[in-house]
Amino acid sequence: MSFHPRLIWRIARDPLRVLERAGARGPVVAVRAGGRRFIFIRQPAIVREVLVKRTDRYAKGFGLRGTRPVFGDGLLTSSGETWRHDRSALRAFFDAERVDDVDRLADAAVARHRPRLTPAGGEAIDLERWAADVVWSVLAAAFFPGWPAERLDHMHRLVDALRADLALLFQVRRYLPWSVMRRRAVIVHLDRLLRSAADVGASPTGLAGRCGQCGPREIDQLRTFLVAGYDTTAWALAAALSALDERVGQAPRSRWTLDDAERHCRETLRLYPPIWIIPRRAMVDDAIHGLRIARGTDILISPYLVHRDPDLWPDPLRFEPDRFLPARRDEIRPGAYLPFGLGPRSCIGERVALALCRRVVAAVADGFVVATRRARLRLQVGLTLRSRLPLMALLAPRAPTGVALAARGEPPLAVVA
Ligand code: HEM
Repeated sequence: MSFHPRLIWRIARDPLRVLERAGARGPVVAVRAGGRRFIFIRQPAIVREVLVKRTDRYAKGFGLRGTRPVFGDGLLTSSGETWRHDRSALRAFFDAERVDDVDRLADAAVARHRPRLTPAGGEAIDLERWAADVVWSVLAAAFFPGWPAERLDHMHRLVDALRADLALLFQVRRYLPWSVMRRRAVIVHLDRLLRSAADVGASPTGLAGRCGQCGPREIDQLRTFLVAGYDTTAWALAAALSALDERVGQAPRSRWTLDDAERHCRETLRLYPPIWIIPRRAMVDDAIHGLRIARGTDILISPYLVHRDPDLWPDPLRFEPDRFLPARRDEIRPGAYLPFGLGPRSCIGERVALALCRRVVAAVADGFVVATRRARLRLQVGLTLRSRLPLMALLAPRAPTGVALAARGEPPLAVVA
């Protein structure tokens, strides 16, 4: 593809379509636009070179500038010594023990929001809204345990406003003075709340409590976790819940184990990866498997394209969680599955996000039959992938199976009626 004056306009209108068209041209596609050189890559071996093996030659770059006002010097956008220091300091917060906490917090969140799944009038519910509220409940309780509900609700509204702002990442109106001023005002408000949570040390275990005297970087960190962690996980959970509709391809199942739910979530993340593009910029001239990459080139690695590549995934558009059965793990080529990125800059929240989704999906699937309005999702993109239309669904309670879960040695889920 060569430079086309209308390309920028097309990207602004429908980035996902541009991505799909570029991807259809081959595993490595070079594009010139706006005087810059971009290379779309969906070849796993090259993906791994860029993200895992040659990290000293590829920095985070293109596309992140627009997110900086929101994430500041948080882990997602920082680099060099700042990033190295913060990543190692924050690792402990996301360690394996945290997953037990997440199970407990997810059960509590599902129990709290469960009545909304089956409204009295029997009408459909908005799965994205429900999933976002559940994810918020878990993250808020993990970061600020014991903080007053009305303050957390206020924080939630502000984080939702930033999420809506990032959904417009590719749209001109996000960069108009009115939007810029609004975003700044939201961030000032949010930071004030984050600072006061940290100052009172909302809890000894919450991250806010750990920062002690919160400086600007710790506040950037909290804002990054709350906004990026919330946006990605909320979408993943909403998409996973909508894929419980049996028309999507799941064989009807009366009982769900956590392993079933985990495979369901992994397959959701394959077809609908929240982070649909991972950008890098070449810091030096390089050559990878015969591909010459000039310094300054923007490399665009799209989990969305890699995960839908028929050479890597047989019948790629089919929703088939059994691809992730332990016996079939070897069928997945290294570099072919990267919803959480790869290498040292991969997602620090991966374990937390998966544990949360798995637990909530198991609870809902075990308790309800889900019927969505549309079996096929129509997608659009901002910072994350999302649905073009509200994800409306009707949920009908199933017979209780909590006892069955307990009998199999798994803790019964709070949601089960
Ligand atoms: C399903 C949910 C999630 C998905 C799919 C996801 C995806 C990703 C991806 C693809 C990256 C790598 C970006 C790159 O290489 O440029 C990333 C990084 C990151 N994610 Fe997540 N994420 C999720 C949930 C979370 C959660 C729950 C948190 C925290 C609460 C979080 C915090 C971060 C941070 C801080 C980074 C930057 C890590 C670094 O550069 O060291 N994410 N995420």
